[in-house]
Amino acid sequence: MCGIVGYIGPKQAHPILLDGLKRLEYRGYDSAGLCVAGENGKLSILRAAGKIRVLEELLKKDPPKGIRGIGHSRWASHGKPSEENAHPHTDCKKEIVIVHNGIIENYFSLREELGTKGHRFSSETDTEVITHLLEENLQRLKSRATPHPPHLAHPLLFLAVQETVKELKGSFAMTLLWKQAPDTLIAVRNDCPLAIGLGDREFFVASDVPAFLPYTRNVLFLEDREIAVLSSQQCLLFNFEGKKVSREPLSIKWNLSQAEKGGYKHFMLKEIFEQPRAVEDTLRGRIGPNSTPGFLQELNLDAEILKRVRRVHLVGCGTAYHAGLVGKYLLEHLAGIPCEAEIASEFRYRRPTLDPETLLIAISQSGETADTLSAVREAKKRTSHLLAICNCVGSTLTREVPSTLTTHCGPEIGVASTKAFLGQLTALTLVALHAGFLRGQLSAEELRSFSEELLKIPGGIRQVLKEEPAVLKISKEMYKKEHLLYLGRHIQYPICLEGALKLKELSYIHAEGYAAGEMKHGPIALIDESMPVVALATRSRLYDKLCGNLQEAVARGAVLISVVNPGDRAVTAQSAWTLEVPEVPELLSPLVNIVPLQLFAYHMARQRGCDVDQPRNLAKSVTVE
Ligand code: AGP
Repeated sequence: MCGIVGYIGPKQAHPILLDGLKRLEYRGYDSAGLCVAGENGKLSILRAAGKIRVLEELLKKDPPKGIRGIGHSRWASHGKPSEENAHPHTDCKKEIVIVHNGIIENYFSLREELGTKGHRFSSETDTEVITHLLEENLQRLKSRATPHPPHLAHPLLFLAVQETVKELKGSFAMTLLWKQAPDTLIAVRNDCPLAIGLGDREFFVASDVPAFLPYTRNVLFLEDREIAVLSSQQCLLFNFEGKKVSREPLSIKWNLSQAEKGGYKHFMLKEIFEQPRAVEDTLRGRIGPNSTPGFLQELNLDAEILKRVRRVHLVGCGTAYHAGLVGKYLLEHLAGIPCEAEIASEFRYRRPTLDPETLLIAISQSGETADTLSAVREAKKRTSHLLAICNCVGSTLTREVPSTLTTHCGPEIGVASTKAFLGQLTALTLVALHAGFLRGQLSAEELRSFSEELLKIPGGIRQVLKEEPAVLKISKEMYKKEHLLYLGRHIQYPICLEGALKLKELSYIHAEGYAAGEMKHGPIALIDESMPVVALATRSRLYDKLCGNLQEAVARGAVLISVVNPGDRAVTAQSAWTLEVPEVPELLSPLVNIVPLQLFAYHMARQRGCDVDQPRNLAKSVTVE
């Protein structure tokens, strides 16, 4: 996620802004910038692609003077990492300066509309539309006497911000300043976190408290649809309707390390709990009654390809490969397209039978995995239809394929992939739904109804996260085990593989995911009291068959830990423990069923004293073969 910082007070702003950006580096970013407003109204804007030290070098050469400023570290979502796309962004007159975190869903139509009014854009970002929209509203309101809240030094700016946020769809946290409104900083929150640090006659703004923790622990967290108007004397809060809001500040007790993890013990746990948001942001603007054209436009993927393609090959490594396996079920069931899901390191060395009518979907969180990149380069020799599903805009993978569907999960710091996996599953579901609709496999009504179910998934994940105490209890009983088996059928089978991978890479316990129907063909010989079985036993067409498989395991002494839907009886009766997940359509169930398995692996690792965020022998991105 992007990082926002802001300062207004008696001190020089740029060292505070730079320090704040450095404290937000853990959030991940690919470019940075800041703006300082000088006493004489001069706005100094410095931006740089790459690490903050590049920006720091620019500042050393020509340190901007001023006691008011804003800064930003960008995690690219629309437009590659570059100086032109780095924030802050300005209007045509370069008098309005804005930094933003979030996704403006309707930026495309706003940009077109503003373009017809003569606004010229200098970046590919969605953020820039906000500056030109604000410019337009300032111009329009200048000649009007509009009622406004009292005690505002620059009511016109406040009113223009109010008008602007009414026209924005999506999630945004932003901080802005205007050349003609000295001693004023405005912060706006809608569905993206933003905090105000209250100092002694000075105020700070940040996406996250670590940015200003050394200066103050008194914090006002903006709530959704709120606007903060800061001056060197006061901080005024209003809602979007202009009603004044008053709230007691909180005193932050966290130390810096805890603050970086948002109070969670590890980045991995924080990222598990960010998963509802990751799914919401990956769906944002891509689903709904008229989503198909917009969705494909963003994809830069000709609808004809999804209509005509005769086979899909999904490649990836590790967790991304498991996402590809789920994608196979989705594309076959929803779009009727024959699919292969393959480990990238295997795909690249066999003679893959791709033809010009094959679509290759490469899945990668980092976009830098050597085996996946090589698989793409191999595929390019045989087909021109290539789509990347990736979490890192501007990564190598996204530059080597014509179309990329970005998963808006924000940076994933924990080495074990969690929220990125859910982002990948969400993206694959979007592709399968749209391909099914375009190929006539799904009616408009079926697409709408499936989309509605998909939009409910973040709520379902939030519900599952409440099971954490139950998972912790099981892990305290199980953490000394040396072998576990994960059993499931159909679309649960890849989730068994992923659950087993999580346990292996985090707790170093040997674990295997197996198709439950395969047990009698050999692996059942492994079963005894020392081999607990984790069963994915949510309701499905194959539930009864799975029950039989589990009975065979229990009959041989297996201790069963089952993931079930509320009201389950048959599997629950055989299980030592059950973890409940809400019942969702079977093809969407991987999105909720994986969550207890992630929590289980996390707590098993913690019980065993393993390094959860940096497991031994592992790297976050395997950029070598
Ligand atoms: C997942 O928990 C692992 N860290 C690893 O398997 C990872 O999924 C794999 O290396 C692929 O990485 P990528 O998604 O960045 O390509």
